[in-house]
Amino acid sequence: MAGRSEIVRLLEANHGRHSMHEVFTDWVEMFALALRNAVDRDGFDEREKLFEHLKAKYSDKETDRFAEAFGHVVIQLTENPRDVLGETYMGLEIADKAKGQFFTPYSLARLMAAMSIDELVEVLEDKPFATVYEPAVGAGAMLIALTQELKDRGINYQQRIHITADDISPVAVHMAYIQLSLLHAPALVYRRNSLSLETFDTWATPAHVLGGWGLRLQVANTATPARAGVEEMPITPTTGTAVVDHPHSQTTGSARVTLFDLDEAS
Ligand SMILES: C[S@@+](CC[C@H](N)C(=O)[O-])C[C@H]1O[C@@H](n2cnc3c(N)ncnc32)[C@H](O)[C@@H]1O
Repeated sequence: MAGRSEIVRLLEANHGRHSMHEVFTDWVEMFALALRNAVDRDGFDEREKLFEHLKAKYSDKETDRFAEAFGHVVIQLTENPRDVLGETYMGLEIADKAKGQFFTPYSLARLMAAMSIDELVEVLEDKPFATVYEPAVGAGAMLIALTQELKDRGINYQQRIHITADDISPVAVHMAYIQLSLLHAPALVYRRNSLSLETFDTWATPAHVLGGWGLRLQVANTATPARAGVEEMPITPTTGTAVVDHPHSQTTGSARVTLFDLDEAS
């Protein structure tokens, strides 16, 4: 936890002219924008402008602290993958609980992933990949736990699953995008109301872009499951979650796991 408190310490040092909530949301937005601009030319200039606008709110010293804090996130996600940003967000006590922003503790997320993964592993025995859907991703704890559970079972999640994740909150989208990007997980993170499907933005991780997943999913969706080598899979009952019919998700014809029941959150 020493590393995590270092992140908190650095962010708290930037709190003065801005609220702690603003410091955190600016920090994650800046780094999400930087990661996205490395692989997405569409809208590059607007994101660059937004990045510069956010950066201009802080002094050079504060910007250095942001970079140092982000360095700790990178190191921690590499050395000991877990929900580093969700823990930081909750640790700073800035979450909007009225909007359901309480994130599953990572140890519990790991337990849930361990309990629910057998069906997915079974499907992956004879399919090239499965798609996973998270309708209320938060910072991504459940998905991070799933990637690590797969890794522990010798399954390369960077190749064998594709993630679709929704959240209505910008800060949640930014946190999930950063963490999934740093874990090199192929994913589309939508800022979207997963109940009404009103969509505001789509964040494709570097692994999604560089791995050609747009085409892979298109092929899987147009081919029959047998030809595409992927399979529709119902939700695992052990997580207590439910399949959400999702016409816009890129899951048709693929093995699918849905994480987290949005109805239970409200
Ligand atoms: C209780 S948190 C859970 C986050 C994550 N699944 C976890 O276990 O750590 C619920 C999340 O759902 C999001 N949310 C609430 N209503 C939503 C909606 N209609 N569409 C998409 N996301 C929503 C909130 O912004 C919040 O990040």
